[in-house]
Amino acid sequence: MILQNLGVAITGSGSALPANCLDNETLSKLVDTSDEWIASRTGIRQRRLANSSQSVSEIASIAAKDAIAMAGISPLDIDLIILATSTADDLFGSACQIQTQIGATNAVAFDLTAACSGFVFGLVTAAQFIRTGVYQNVVLIGGDILSRWVDWQDRSTCVLFGDGAGAVVIQATESDRLLGFEIRSDGTQNNCLNLSYSPESQPLTPGIEVGKGNFKPITMNGKEVYRFAVQRVPEVIDKALFRANITTEQVDWLILHQANQRILDAVAQRLNIPSHKVISNLASYGNTSAASIPIALDEAVRNGQIKTGDTIVASGFGAGLTWGAAIFKWGI
Ligand code: COA
Repeated sequence: MILQNLGVAITGSGSALPANCLDNETLSKLVDTSDEWIASRTGIRQRRLANSSQSVSEIASIAAKDAIAMAGISPLDIDLIILATSTADDLFGSACQIQTQIGATNAVAFDLTAACSGFVFGLVTAAQFIRTGVYQNVVLIGGDILSRWVDWQDRSTCVLFGDGAGAVVIQATESDRLLGFEIRSDGTQNNCLNLSYSPESQPLTPGIEVGKGNFKPITMNGKEVYRFAVQRVPEVIDKALFRANITTEQVDWLILHQANQRILDAVAQRLNIPSHKVISNLASYGNTSAASIPIALDEAVRNGQIKTGDTIVASGFGAGLTWGAAIFKWGI
C-alpha cells in the first residue's frame, strides 16, 4: 500500500471567550493589588471569567465549530478530537461531550493534559496520527476554566488567570506545513506550579482508609516559573527551528503562551525576533492556559494579521513542568 497525504496542515481556527469581564480595577477591590501593579508586572488589564453553569465542553464546542467552518469540512469528516485541558468538567474527560455537542459522530475523542503546553503537545500528538496515515481530519481544542481552581484571596495567583477556549482543524495534506517541533518535560520542578489533589482521609473499615476527592487551589512559585520560561522557551524554539531547518529571520509570527508580557518580551529579545512579530492579547484575557495559543492564533487569522503561508512559531510552557515549540505554515 502506498500512503499519500502524510503532510500536516492547520486549515481552520476558532475561539470562544466567556462574556463576563473582570478588569484590574474591580479585582483590586477583592484583593490587595492595583491596576498599576498587575499591568506593569504582567501586562494583563482584564480577564474573561466563566460563570458557574458554563462548562469547558460548552466553550470548547463553540471554538471547535468555528474552526470546522473555517476549514470548510463537515463535523462528520472529523476522525479525532483532542481536548487539551487541565480543568475538564469531568475527571473522566470532557472530549466525548464535545464530540456530541458538535455532532462529530465518526470521531474518537480524548483529553490530553499538559497544562499550558497542552496546545503544542496536542498539535504534536495529532500530527503523529496523521503522519502514520491513521487519520485525516483532527480537531484540537485548548480549553480551560482556571477561575474555578484559583484562590481568589491569593493575589500572587488570582490576578494572572482567565478562562477561554481555542481550536484548530489539522488535516492531512500532500505538502507538509508542520516544519518542526520539540516537546520537553521536567518533573523535578513539578512543585513550582500545581493544582493538586488534597488528601483527605475517609475511613472505610478498621484496616482500610481511602482518600476523598478534592483539589487544592493553584499554588505557584512565580519567580521560579518566570526563570524557567525565559531560559527554556528560547532553547526549545531554537531546537524546533533547527529541526525545521529555518532561521529566526524567516519567522513571520511568534505566538507564545500568553502568561506574562515580560516573558514574551524576554523570549523575543533572546531570539532576536522584533516586537512587531510577537502576537500578544494577554492584556484582554490574561493567562488562559491551554487556550491561550489557539485564541491568539484565531484572532490574528481573523483580523488578517496572519495570512496563508506565513511561518509561525508557537511555544507553550507551564505546569509539569512542560514546554514545547512547533513551527508551521498557516493554511494549505
Ligand atoms: N499585587 C500587588 N502586589 C503583589 C501582588 C499583586 N497581585 N502579587 C505579589 N505582590 C507583591 C509581593 O508580595 C512582593 O511584595 P514584597 O516585595 O513586599 O515581598 C512584591 O509584590 C514582588 O513580588 P514578586 O513575586 O517578587 O513579583 P514578581 O516581579 O516576581 O512578579 C509574577 C510576580 C507572578 C507576576 C511573576 O513572577 C511571574 O509572572 N511569574 C511567572 C508566572 C507564570 O507565568 N505562571 C504561569 C505559567 S503557565
